[in-house]
Amino acid sequence: MFKKKEIFLSICLVFLVVFSANLALAGKHGDSKPVKQAILLVAFGTTVPEARKAFDQIESQVKSAFPGLEVRWAFTSSIVRKKLSEQGVKLDPPTVALAKILEDGFNRVVVASFHTIPGEEFHDLYKDVDAFRNMSGSHHRRILVARPLLSSRKHMEAAIDAMLEQTPKSRKPGDAILLMGHGSEHQPADALYAALNFYAQGKDSNLYIATVEGQPTLEDVVPKLKKNGVKKVFLMPFMAVAGDHAQNDMCGDEKDSWKSILTKDGFEVECVMKGTAENPKIVNLWIENIKASHSHFK
Ligand code: CO
Repeated sequence: MFKKKEIFLSICLVFLVVFSANLALAGKHGDSKPVKQAILLVAFGTTVPEARKAFDQIESQVKSAFPGLEVRWAFTSSIVRKKLSEQGVKLDPPTVALAKILEDGFNRVVVASFHTIPGEEFHDLYKDVDAFRNMSGSHHRRILVARPLLSSRKHMEAAIDAMLEQTPKSRKPGDAILLMGHGSEHQPADALYAALNFYAQGKDSNLYIATVEGQPTLEDVVPKLKKNGVKKVFLMPFMAVAGDHAQNDMCGDEKDSWKSILTKDGFEVECVMKGTAENPKIVNLWIENIKASHSHFK
């Protein structure tokens, strides 16, 4: 009776030892590569040379937040990449940059885009990264995508504070600030601008957000400016770089620019040409999101 039980237990033990040895081996196989971490910074890109300052600002802040980590760039706009390539500047799209990073042996990667909202461009990036996660040999790699700027109420309020701080000191009581967001056809993401407007109004009743390609629009804001008796409007882009939209749609001399429309409506207009990525406090909010993703590697 006892003997039978002993034999059974020894068989179980043998199985257990063999099984756990296999597990240990499997574990060792998977973990055998040393951990190499990288951050891939992704931006739309810009052909406006002055606007590129924003990327230098981001890079220096990211490098000091993550000392020793490999930091690389990718640019999503094929038009921007083509234009710059004609000037001899070769830039990679995210898929090419990511392939190079993996080929160079990096196996813990945070992909961080400088998007304001999770709109179409962000979702496209996410899909591309996801394709890499499904590739063969990807079991020993981790590739995470950090959230865009407006990822929480706290981030929205902090972004508004940072924009108020960068407003010129010449702003007098009663002068308005109008931020130009990009906007998106991706409705749930676009609604974040209305949310931002709500929190902005809670901090400063003459601070507004409108968008070029989404909601709310300039037409939504103008009646409020008139109702509040505003005389002067400070225009500032709420986009990573003060690029094409800021230079043309916001403050260009064409008659359909916001500056021209507001001037025609009798407002005095002052343009502040500074992208959100040139504002260290806003860059820090993106970095907080990168840190949140990076913390999963520990
Ligand atoms: Co656009």
